[in-house]
Amino acid sequence: MKEVKLTDRKKTIELGEKVGQLLKAGDVLVLDGDLGAGKTTFTKGLAKGLDIPDLIKSPTFTIIREYHDGRLPLYHMDAYRLENGGAEDLGLEEYFDSDGVSVVEWAQFVEDELPADFLAIHFKRTDDENTRLLQFEPHGRHFEQVVTEL
Ligand SMILES: Nc1ncnc2c1ncn2[C@@H]1O[C@H](COP(=O)(O)OP(=O)(O)OP(=O)(O)O)[C@@H](O)[C@H]1O
Ligand SMILES: [Mg+2]
Repeated sequence: MKEVKLTDRKKTIELGEKVGQLLKAGDVLVLDGDLGAGKTTFTKGLAKGLDIPDLIKSPTFTIIREYHDGRLPLYHMDAYRLENGGAEDLGLEEYFDSDGVSVVEWAQFVEDELPADFLAIHFKRTDDENTRLLQFEPHGRHFEQVVTEL
């Protein structure tokens, strides 16, 4: 498992951008980690890497936000509010099987819906307020390749 230390917000955005540039249609990324660990910040960079010009806002209350103005569509989801179930009603498979990129925050609540191939990224806060540790856990050859290129 690849682990990366990011010492400020900008570095997290930059890494997200790099990942975004390596993605292809149908890719699924699942992000987990505490509140404020940097999942949405990373997704902002990822959107930049997909050439999405829009401002990325946290989908905590809407659960899903869609962006269609980039190289690929981005489906940004936040499953935080699905802690007590309900993931099976969202039609996630349709997003996961689509020609877009799906990014899911708090993915532990949609575990049962995930496809065979996906990239899990674990976010951890540290003693330093501005430092985050990211662990990349690829499932499938495509994502192994993506992680190698980072
Ligand atoms: N190295 C860093 N990487 C990312 N964010 C950082 C870093 N250092 C400080 N921060 C700050 O931490 C916060 C991360 O918030 P963010 O919304 O990205 O977290 P989140 O994991 O999406 O939280 P939530 O679970 O509430 O959705 C931001 O205020 C950001 O500026
Ligand atoms: Mg968030």
